[in-house]
Amino acid sequence: MLILGIETSCDETAAAVVADGIEVRSNIIASQHAIHAAYGGVVPELACRSHIENLQPVINAALEQAHVTLHEIDVIAVTQGPGLVGALLVGVSLAKALAYGLGKPLVPVHHLEGHISSIYLEYPSVPSPYVALVVSGGHSDLYYCQQRGHYVVLGRTRDDAAGECFDKIAKMLHLGYPGGPLVDRLAQQGDSTALHFPRAMLDKETFDFSFSGVKTAVRTHMLQMTDVQGTRFFQDDMFWPLPVSLEWERCRNNILASFQQAVVEVLVAKTRRAVEQTEARAIVVVGGVACNSTLRQEMCRVGEREGVPVFFPSPILCTDNAAMIACAAAHRYQMALQYYHGQCFLKLDAQPNLTLSNVHSC
Ligand code: KG4
Ligand code: ZN
Repeated sequence: MLILGIETSCDETAAAVVADGIEVRSNIIASQHAIHAAYGGVVPELACRSHIENLQPVINAALEQAHVTLHEIDVIAVTQGPGLVGALLVGVSLAKALAYGLGKPLVPVHHLEGHISSIYLEYPSVPSPYVALVVSGGHSDLYYCQQRGHYVVLGRTRDDAAGECFDKIAKMLHLGYPGGPLVDRLAQQGDSTALHFPRAMLDKETFDFSFSGVKTAVRTHMLQMTDVQGTRFFQDDMFWPLPVSLEWERCRNNILASFQQAVVEVLVAKTRRAVEQTEARAIVVVGGVACNSTLRQEMCRVGEREGVPVFFPSPILCTDNAAMIACAAAHRYQMALQYYHGQCFLKLDAQPNLTLSNVHSC
């Protein structure tokens, strides 16, 4: 069974052809990072326009790389939500048109189920039940997955997502967008014990997260920083680009390493507690922030201590892509959990606030 996956929920226009829910024949991603970099974050209107321009060429490239024609595709899969409504609409509209024109079934996919499913592309026999940490630019959620397709929410962020926090700190420091990979790289040259930033809700029973406090703490610290002459690096709210100096770079890298440590420590501690309080036999970490090198190291240590394996997708499957959407759709279609055929899917709409629930029926 050949599935064409389409993903346009945020700032990546992506299409992929996946065979039998496991074999990635193509995985094309047109990133909009260059467009949004000037603003230090995603501008929804620009994202939407760029999807309109890029989606068809991206789909054509995915078909070409997979050496298949549209008529050989068995099922169309598309991200229905959550995400930016305008961006989602581009993918959903084109997917509906394709499915209608070709007379193929259409499977709507929850973006986070896509992220969780990405693990099955490389590790098809992940042991269930498992705890899944979904950490991206828009989400920081902890799920207990009894079996594939069954999700119990243990906790989620009450304010900023972890990736959003990386992006905002990078923006304050004029590092570029997306901030996560840049912070990750520079933090490796810093001392993660140099500064102590808050670990919000660490000692609370809840599995929820909160990352806005650490972001504010970093900002407050930056406003107070001075060079050896006592001159402030930043003044008031003006975070302009600084003259590069070794002294500043050392301070900056220490801030980044300490910030990253604070975020990672909370993510890892809550995941560990979730493993201890459930029957979990594995830990799965997905989403863009799952690329983070410190998170990977610390989570592997937790896995060793708890005696459970830890699974991360390869970086290309951590960040937004359409192979994960096709993979999730294959499972849904095979289990007859949710798909649309004939005219019925014309009612399907983008859902920017879609929640992840266990069973959908059509
Ligand atoms: O999953 P994703 O591609 O998009 C969303 O669904 O949001 O995740 C993007 C997020 C961005 O916030 C980006 O800064 C973050 O993942 N990210 C990282 C790293 N690589 C990407 N965060 C920390 N460390 C990284 N190495
Ligand atoms: Zn995502």
